[in-house]
Amino acid sequence: MFHETLDSFPKDFLWGAASAAYQIEGAFDADGKGPSIWDEFTKIPEKTFEGTNGDVAIDHYHRYKEDVKLMAGMGLKAYRFSVSWSRILPEGEGEVNEAGLQFYEDLVDELIKNGVEPVLTLYHWDLPLALQEKYNGWESRETIRAFKQYCELLFERLGKKVTYWVTFNEQNVFTSMGYRWESHPPNVSDTKRLFEANHIINLANAEAINLFKEMVPEGKIGPSFGYGPVYPLTSDPSDVLAAENAHDFNNAWWLDIYCKGKYPVTTFNQLKRMGIAPTVLPEDEELLKSAKPDFLGINYYHGGTVKQNKLENPTENEETNKQFSSTDPYLMQPKDEQSQSPEVPMFQSAENPYLEKTDWGWEIDPVGFRVALRQVFARYDLPLFVTENGLGALDELTEEEEIHDDYRIQYLENHISEMKKAISDGVDMIGYCAWSFTDLLSWLNGYKKRYGFVYVNRTETDEKDMRRIPKKSFYWYKELIENNGQNI
Ligand code: BG6
Repeated sequence: MFHETLDSFPKDFLWGAASAAYQIEGAFDADGKGPSIWDEFTKIPEKTFEGTNGDVAIDHYHRYKEDVKLMAGMGLKAYRFSVSWSRILPEGEGEVNEAGLQFYEDLVDELIKNGVEPVLTLYHWDLPLALQEKYNGWESRETIRAFKQYCELLFERLGKKVTYWVTFNEQNVFTSMGYRWESHPPNVSDTKRLFEANHIINLANAEAINLFKEMVPEGKIGPSFGYGPVYPLTSDPSDVLAAENAHDFNNAWWLDIYCKGKYPVTTFNQLKRMGIAPTVLPEDEELLKSAKPDFLGINYYHGGTVKQNKLENPTENEETNKQFSSTDPYLMQPKDEQSQSPEVPMFQSAENPYLEKTDWGWEIDPVGFRVALRQVFARYDLPLFVTENGLGALDELTEEEEIHDDYRIQYLENHISEMKKAISDGVDMIGYCAWSFTDLLSWLNGYKKRYGFVYVNRTETDEKDMRRIPKKSFYWYKELIENNGQNI
């Protein structure tokens, strides 16, 4: 499709930036907070880069006013953050920690006072450790009950102040990393358990949405999904079929549940043959169908390329599997031994010869962003909110106290330009949150891999003074917001 002129961004478009509790707050045991599964997991030797953890992170818990002031200075329209469940319910359920609730209410008040729309994520991966220990976390329906108590507390307290709510952040990523690649808690490699836990989370998502509709009828709620379009390596119909399989397996497996309340039948049948399909009770189907999100949050970093699974070439398979394991959560590959089975020749990951990569090996694909937005909007017909998109890079602080992150500006500009084309194509968009506002702790890559508009002066081993220094991209984004992206 071609455009002679592009549509403008909607006038109330939410230009924002995002973060997540464990990656910024620190204060891991302050004011009655209980431990989360990440507090424990990051202490296991070799799991994170140089043993980094979020005990202190960038100390946002104590510096949130300073951070919000910077947001206001930038003219940010929206700020997406997550709530740490165990700050509010130290045991995951039961007794409430008022100090935790107060912290988030203060943060929300501060944002509103400064003209920044809060976008609240209920779950960005830091499950209360008590629930993991008591119930096996997301493997038990007891955790749904606890999640409902947690949601109810937040809906009650903040429902009148916060319009946009995200249920789960990247369910595809945290379940795969946690139950398959052993690179997130609960540190398991078992696909049967993966799909059972994932199903329970689907039910929790549906329960949260239904409760929200009752308690916050004026608000908007939806999940944030880590979406990547899947390209066939060639026009060989077998590669095209492999891309269909991969799309079903990596994307529709979650999005169909969120939006249609049912699993895509092809993948479900494959998993059934492999003996790893989730247990779906009749009442589950009813619940899943009843819950309708108001929008879909899309986190976009890149997609993937696949080809027909050549069963006769297991060594190549192993290599690709390794490549897509712990460093790149976005492309899910059928497990080695299963993909060798003649009944399940689903797909095999391939290198895309057209795309450059970041320092961490993630493909850079702005056109794929337009493809992604169009695909999701066409298939599910819901407004989209980009809740993450950004570049992780090695930034350098100069002697003049400046950060010349032109590469980040370039990356964001290219992506925002493709988003503008998607809007002109007709995609209904609420807003765009770049990842991230400040530098923060990368779950597995420490502080070296920086994403922020604001530099935070600390390293893996030295907390230094953690002072905040706006980067060149900060001023670029400020101007873009001022003129509502019209120069893009
Ligand atoms: C997303 C997560 O998957 O990617 C963020 O929602 C995360 O929490 C971001 O930080 C970037 O990942 P990484 O591994 O580069 O820090």
